[in-house]
Order: sequence, then C-alpha cells, then structure tokens
Amino acid sequence: MIKSIIITGASSGIGKATVIRLVESGYQVFGLARRYDKLVAISSKLLTSSREDKGDNYIPMEFDITKPERFGSIINDILSKAKGGTIYGLVNNAGYVEPGAIEDITVQDLRNQFETNFFGLLEFTKKVLPFMLENNQGRIVNISSVSGLISLPLIGAYSATKYAVEAITDALRIELWNTNIKVVTVNPGLVETNINTISKPKIDNLIANKSRFSEIYRKYLYNVPKGLPPGSVATAILEAISSQKPKTRYIVGSTKVRIGVRMKKFVPDTIFFSQVAKRIHQE
Ligand SMILES: NC(=O)c1ccc[n+]([C@@H]2O[C@H](COP(=O)([O-])OP(=O)(O)OC[C@H]3O[C@@H](n4cnc5c(N)ncnc54)[C@H](OP(=O)(O)O)[C@@H]3O)[C@@H](O)[C@H]2O)c1
Repeated sequence: MIKSIIITGASSGIGKATVIRLVESGYQVFGLARRYDKLVAISSKLLTSSREDKGDNYIPMEFDITKPERFGSIINDILSKAKGGTIYGLVNNAGYVEPGAIEDITVQDLRNQFETNFFGLLEFTKKVLPFMLENNQGRIVNISSVSGLISLPLIGAYSATKYAVEAITDALRIELWNTNIKVVTVNPGLVETNINTISKPKIDNLIANKSRFSEIYRKYLYNVPKGLPPGSVATAILEAISSQKPKTRYIVGSTKVRIGVRMKKFVPDTIFFSQVAKRIHQE
C-alpha cells in the first residue's frame, strides 16, 4: 500500500525538492507551509514528471508551525485523505535563520526563532506520533544542520535551536528504540535555497543599527558561498524514509564539511575557537 508522508516547510528549497523526490519515488506527500500559492505551484512541476499518478499523490496544505491550535484539524484532514490509511512519515523541515551576533539579537528574536525551529517542530511531532504508535511503524526525519553540531558566530540563535533539535531527537530516538518508528537526523551544510535571502532584511537592519560587526555581516552573511543543490538533501531524506535500516544521522555537505564535523571532537577547544575567532576579528 502507498505510504503517506508529511513534509513541513514544503514551499521552497529543501522541502520542495523533497516533495518532488518522494512523489516521484511513489509516496503520497502532504506538503505544508504558509505560502499556499508556492505549494500549489509545485503541482505543475510534478505534472511534467514521468510518473502517471504524481499529481494525485501530492496534497498542498496551508500551515503555520507557530500556530499549534490548528494542528489537530490539519492532522484530521491529512488522515481523511491519507491513501495509506495513516501517516507513515514526518519530515520536520520548516525553519529559518535569525542572523546576528548575540549582542545584537533581541531576546524576542531568539524566542521567535525557537518557536519555529524548535517548539513548533516538537509540538507538531507530538501530535503526529500517536498515529505512528497506533500502527507501530513510521519515520520521523528532523532537518537539523551542521550548525546543530558546531555553533558558529553570527548565527548563534539559529545554532541554539538546532542544538535543541539534536537533543530532543536523540532522546526520542532512544524512547522509540523498541518500536518500529525510526528517528533520523539530517544535517545539511550549505545548501542553495532562499534561507539567506529571507534573512537579508534583518541583516540590513543590524548594519543600519551600526553594529560593531557590520563589516563582518557584509562579508560573511551577504556573500554566503554557493551551497549544494537542495536535491542532495532530498536524496538523504528519501533514504531515511525508504531504507529498511536508515542511519541515525545523515551529514550532507562537501567532503571538507563532512570531515570537519567528524574531526571537530578531536581538535582541542582553544585551537578550534581561536581559528574561527581569527576569521571574524582580523578585519
Ligand atoms: N539552506 C541551507 O544552507 C540549510 C543548511 C542546513 C539546514 N537547513 C535547514 O533546512 C530547512 C529548510 O530550509 P531551506 O534551506 O530549504 O530554506 P527555505 O527555502 O527558506 O525554506 C524554508 C521553508 O520553511 C517554511 N517555513 C518557515 N517558517 C514557517 C512557519 N512558521 N510555518 C510553516 N512553514 C514555515 C517556509 O515556508 P513558508 O514561508 O511558505 O511558510 C519554507 O518552505 C530548515 O530547517 C533549515 O534550517 C538549511
């Protein structure tokens, strides 16, 4: 029987690429995000793909992860349309970057960042989980980041939310160890999506407020190097959903990024921090 998967943050970037990859691989996909027009536009991409049933197997739904009062009715709607009779997979992908050095961000900005990237993810997962437990099967794929493993300057708020996602994902994975529900973390490095364009007005603001990091923001946050295509993360997510024995973690990035993450634990703190600090303080 066809398996039904929910993807949050499906309107662009990694989420959009994953919708297309999963539908083309034979899954029924519920794509959730705030911008319904962008979700609907994905249907036309699917119509040009080769699978016969692709259009039918994609259902866009308007959804704001910071509005938990609506989660119940959205999940009921999904269950009533799920061809698989239940929800098999949840890809927690919705998120954004709150840019700024710790001295520049407000505590309210930090709270907002947590509402979307952490509390929203957690609350939605808690609403979906009972249906997976009822059927004793499923996949929960949490999109973290390399920033969830190494905290970097100028995006400390974002890193904090991704570290929190890591912690809760590890706990949940162990709590579900004796079930057929597998919990997977995906840690992308730089990926070419809209994530940096969306945070640009906030960087403009930080600079306008004469931050002592203004030049550094210009250098590092305006000119983010080109990342991997979102399809490379979609490939890891498909593997996490479809493999009988998925890995607990998929680090998706250049060879340099993957080696860097693995080596970090062997590098003494003072060496690591001084090297990163040099990059932002030698201007
Ligand atoms: N791009 C990278 O370099 C990179 C690296 C590591 C990890 N990631 C992670 O990958 C995930 C996807 O990001 P992306 O790079 O694909 O960025 P993106 O193109 O900006 O996509 C972000 C998605 O999240 C959705 N979203 C944001 N706030 C939401 C809310 N309140 N409710 C529902 N949906 C919301 C957006 O949809 P709407 O605006 O339509 O709601 C959009 O579909 C994020 O969790 C991000 O942290 C990205």
